[in-house]
Amino acid sequence: MSLVDTAYARATANGFGQSCEPEVGRLLATLAAALPPGARVLEIGTGAGVGTAWIADGLRPRSDVSVDSVEADPATAALAATAEWPAFVHLHVADALEFLAATPHRYDLVFADAFGGKIEGLDRTVEKLNARGTLVVDDMTPVEGWPEDFRAKQAGVRRALLTDPGLVAVELAHGSGVIIGVRRPPAG
Ligand SMILES: C[S@@+](CC[C@H](N)C(=O)[O-])C[C@H]1O[C@@H](n2cnc3c(N)ncnc32)[C@H](O)[C@@H]1O
Repeated sequence: MSLVDTAYARATANGFGQSCEPEVGRLLATLAAALPPGARVLEIGTGAGVGTAWIADGLRPRSDVSVDSVEADPATAALAATAEWPAFVHLHVADALEFLAATPHRYDLVFADAFGGKIEGLDRTVEKLNARGTLVVDDMTPVEGWPEDFRAKQAGVRRALLTDPGLVAVELAHGSGVIIGVRRPPAG
């Protein structure tokens, strides 16, 4: 089985229901495949490792890249760690905002897929993008039955990304609804 198929199977077998859907995963793999030599990727919210698997699949067979994936819940992180990851994948058990504050790196592709770093502290995630780095968020299409406060928080993420003058951003009706933002390089 492929890394991606194994990851979906692991999520299902362990009742983890928050994995990214294949449409979003394929987008992540495609963006990862276009990354320049030496690129760094960050996933915020590892979950069972489905998004990580799509990203890794898009990057293989390269070895010049690095993928950090951060998960706050130790049991969920342990589940993702049961996979056989390529050597360029580094799993971290940490709160996203603490990780963002501590990491010395900037990233060329970020999938912000957890409360921390997306709904809370989105600006800190954007700050960690390299010039021309790409940020992806999903679940942007409102779903009937979402609690009103969650709907408002997702709307806040949309507004922040689509109006940030430092980003070129687009919202796509793809999968659960994605926004892709690319950080503008400094003037000059
Ligand atoms: C939507 S799931 C991630 C799914 C995964 N990215 C994928 O594509 O399959 C969100 C995950 O973020 C984790 N999480 C929630 N808050 C977090 C935080 N502040 N820092 C890091 N991880 C967090 C949750 O425990 C959960 O596993």
